[in-house]
Amino acid sequence: MSALDRFAERRLRDLAEAGLLRRSDDGSRRRAAEQAAARLGTRFVDASSNDYLGLAGQDVSRETRVQVGAPGAGASRLIHGTRSSLVDLEAQLAAWVGAPSALLFTSGYAANVGLLSAVGIAGSTIFSDRLNHASIVDGCRLARADVEVVPHLDLAALEAALERSRGKGERWVITESCFSMDGDGPDLMALRGLCDRLGASLLVDEAHALGVFGEKGAGRCVAAGVVPDALVGTLGKAVGTQGAFVAGSAALRELLWNQARSFVFSTATSPLLASVTLLHVERLKAADDGRGLVAARARSLREHLIRRGVEVPQGLGGPIVPVLVGGNDEAIRVARELESKGILAQAIRPPTVPVGSARIRLTVSANWPDDGVERVAGAVVDALMRVG
Ligand SMILES: Cc1ncc(COP(=O)(O)O)c(C=O)c1O
Repeated sequence: MSALDRFAERRLRDLAEAGLLRRSDDGSRRRAAEQAAARLGTRFVDASSNDYLGLAGQDVSRETRVQVGAPGAGASRLIHGTRSSLVDLEAQLAAWVGAPSALLFTSGYAANVGLLSAVGIAGSTIFSDRLNHASIVDGCRLARADVEVVPHLDLAALEAALERSRGKGERWVITESCFSMDGDGPDLMALRGLCDRLGASLLVDEAHALGVFGEKGAGRCVAAGVVPDALVGTLGKAVGTQGAFVAGSAALRELLWNQARSFVFSTATSPLLASVTLLHVERLKAADDGRGLVAARARSLREHLIRRGVEVPQGLGGPIVPVLVGGNDEAIRVARELESKGILAQAIRPPTVPVGSARIRLTVSANWPDDGVERVAGAVVDALMRVG
């Protein structure tokens, strides 16, 4: 056995002992849930994806009889130039979120890492919410800035931290507008006011809000009338394709073009994907009925669970409904129980969430069957009782 294989086995053993091993999945979990649903004579419910409006699985071939363009970008944009579909998509995305410009990245992970590494120069400070996504954490690691992790959604703690750092160079406050594992989010207006008063810039990751909240799904910032200095939007969640963008001023776009390493040193977004994403954004903007349905289902799911004694945080009232279990093994067992009822839901464990707060992250979607809410609520209650 090679040294690498011995190392890998040792690391995997450690993870398994800590209850943190993720088995690589070949699709069998989804198949098992689908087969269970068929056995029970019900429809499969996917409560695990971020495809809130049900766009990801829709066949675009009818629309894409229109020419969609080349599949490969060929190289990074600095090396090989830009296809028009990328520029068109950037213009559409910027207009959607009310920003002067936008720059595409190949994923939300790359967008956050690129943004923070570009602005987080030595001598500056990044103030990052304790529950920010791993891509923000890794962006902080790549930046040369000092990093202060602030308690979750604690404006008073942020204010104190900003006061302490007055006069010490650029200050960047970064938060998610809808937290991916908790479904809660900051008071954006208050946050903007605080940043303005204390001379800090506000960077907002709208990954789980875009397409879900606000008129035409333009996100929580637009809905709150707040203009962040930089807005990160992802395209792999409600938009239903893949990739991401950073929206902001023309100067920010130019800076990222030059300094965001995950943009500069990475092959550009596929032109074909950009064309398909253009269609998806149009569909998503027009999907107010779907957004209404998702909001109603999310409300109903919370009500069902609470009525049956399961504590669920209200959060922003959106489609992310976390059911706290606590232990890692218990969370996995609850997920398995749901699977046996034809429901796919993920057990979320550290390091994705803090130690001791393993949970089932339920995500509501417009493409659930009509009886989805009742079935998911019933199955969660049963599973929690069984697992004890
Ligand atoms: C808040 C947040 N930001 C960024 C990302 C990364 O986006 P992507 O999946 O496009 O890399 C995620 C993904 O889950 C996320 O939840």
